Amino acid sequence: MPFRSAQWYSGDDRNSYIHRAWMRRGAPADAFERPQIAIANTASDLTPCNAHLDEVARSVRDGVWAAGGVPLNLPVVSLGETNVRPTAMLWRNLAAMAAEEMFRANPIDGLVLLGGCDKTIPSLLMAAASVDLPALVVPGGPMLTGHFQGIPLGCGTDVWRLSEEVRAGTLGRADFLDSESSMIRSRGHCNTMGTASTMACMAEALGMTLPGTAGTPAPDSRLLEHAHAGGRLAVDLVLRDLRPSAILTRAAFLNAIVTLAAIGGSTNAVVHLLAVAGRAGAELSLDDFDRTGSGVPLLVDLQPAGRHLMDDLFRAGGLPAVLHQIADLLDPGAVTVTGRPLTEHVAHAPTWDGGVIRPRADPLLPDAGIAVLRGNLAPGGAVIKPAAASPELLRHHGRAIVFDSVEDLHARLDTVDADESSVLVLRGCGPKGYPGMPEVGNLPLPAKLLARGVRDMVRISDARMSGTAYGTVVLHVAPEAAAGGPLARVRTGDPIVLDVPGRTLRVDVPDAELAARPPVTAGFARPARGWEKLYVDHVLQADRGCDLDFLTGSSGSAVPRESH
Ligand code: FES
Ligand code: MG
Repeated sequence: MPFRSAQWYSGDDRNSYIHRAWMRRGAPADAFERPQIAIANTASDLTPCNAHLDEVARSVRDGVWAAGGVPLNLPVVSLGETNVRPTAMLWRNLAAMAAEEMFRANPIDGLVLLGGCDKTIPSLLMAAASVDLPALVVPGGPMLTGHFQGIPLGCGTDVWRLSEEVRAGTLGRADFLDSESSMIRSRGHCNTMGTASTMACMAEALGMTLPGTAGTPAPDSRLLEHAHAGGRLAVDLVLRDLRPSAILTRAAFLNAIVTLAAIGGSTNAVVHLLAVAGRAGAELSLDDFDRTGSGVPLLVDLQPAGRHLMDDLFRAGGLPAVLHQIADLLDPGAVTVTGRPLTEHVAHAPTWDGGVIRPRADPLLPDAGIAVLRGNLAPGGAVIKPAAASPELLRHHGRAIVFDSVEDLHARLDTVDADESSVLVLRGCGPKGYPGMPEVGNLPLPAKLLARGVRDMVRISDARMSGTAYGTVVLHVAPEAAAGGPLARVRTGDPIVLDVPGRTLRVDVPDAELAARPPVTAGFARPARGWEKLYVDHVLQADRGCDLDFLTGSSGSAVPRESH
């Protein structure tokens, strides 16, 4: 069977001449008869977590050549979580759309996807699912553990913790700033079980990486070995015509959900997996996360839910060792890029440190996963990660203190009349309202309560939360306030009822009274042009993955019309 790229390169007419002549560049004479493998590369100096991916790409290139293919470096939109404003999430769909279209527009037969920082693996998976060319992910890997004053620092998690210590007056500002240079010790993405680590594990659980590669530290030479092997395998995927549509099945997504619970992964994975499933045409709903994830034990003792960091997980046996222990909960029907089931790859994976990867009989928590809450405050659903919450707050009644925007929160937080039973409610931070749904759902606590030793309160919002954050935080309330959700009608003083075991989130106000209140509309974004307008006009709510409505599904890899 001729490769897709033959529709550019084969023949003896003027157009095939043009396509070949510009691409010869010293390549071997038979280069145009080989599989053309694009390396979708999110390396960028402005995405610090991915800045090393050019080196990884070189190993992929070697692997592609070694297997008889032709490697082609393809820089794609890159998103650095710490830099990009107003939030990298606003640009995830742009990155996914741009990558999908460039994959389809070019003479490409297969793909190696290089990502790391939070949004880069999701956007590449979304693109690959929509173009459905043979593809695999090489995750860029986490950074090594940094230490400050003898204590290991977890990226993100310890920023939240230390900054609250400063506000509480228990840590000096000079010491806090001093810790800055220890936070990021090496190349790589955040070393906690934040969104980047979670999404690398999700890619592996979905079957889209070579098994055993997620979590390989970025500076570890084994990452380059995996990259080389990934390059070789990409050629093989093309020869076998094994496409994402055969891998990204409902069974694969359910395996990812089980994995998400066992690793204590980021709530952001809910939004990203729903978006990738929407592209792949796999049936997946918010309720699947609760149904499939509940009862799964939390085995990985990593920050933010636990103590250790990604380096420790790798040393302890990595994701295969985790999955080995819960292999009976995984669907053996889901195949990976190797063509073999995920369950087969983890069948003999040993654990080397039971303190990092806990035995199934002695888990960190017997029942992890993501709880999906519903009620008159979140008819479309909301999520909470019980593993990161305070057990005593999982059933809670309290009076709402409502903030209409992040700016309103910052202006009034320290002067509101709150006690530890209050429920902090933030609206206007959903996909449309901000826009882009920023990671502000873990609202800071009022300083006077911090000073009294309060370290957690119930917080509710239509925002997301950094995967490195923690607390009794209800997120992704759908529909969001800016889409007319009931969150827009809540008032300060309303009684809020949170019942995580009962899966409910309610405001104790009669339905008729709530409906009669005028919704708050001030402060929501109303962009007039450009990507932001397209985004706000078309973005789906969090319970559907926040993709744009016209981007769900697949257009496949049909070859576009000739250019000349
Ligand atoms: Fe890039 Fe955390 S900021 S992975
Ligand atoms: Mg993040």
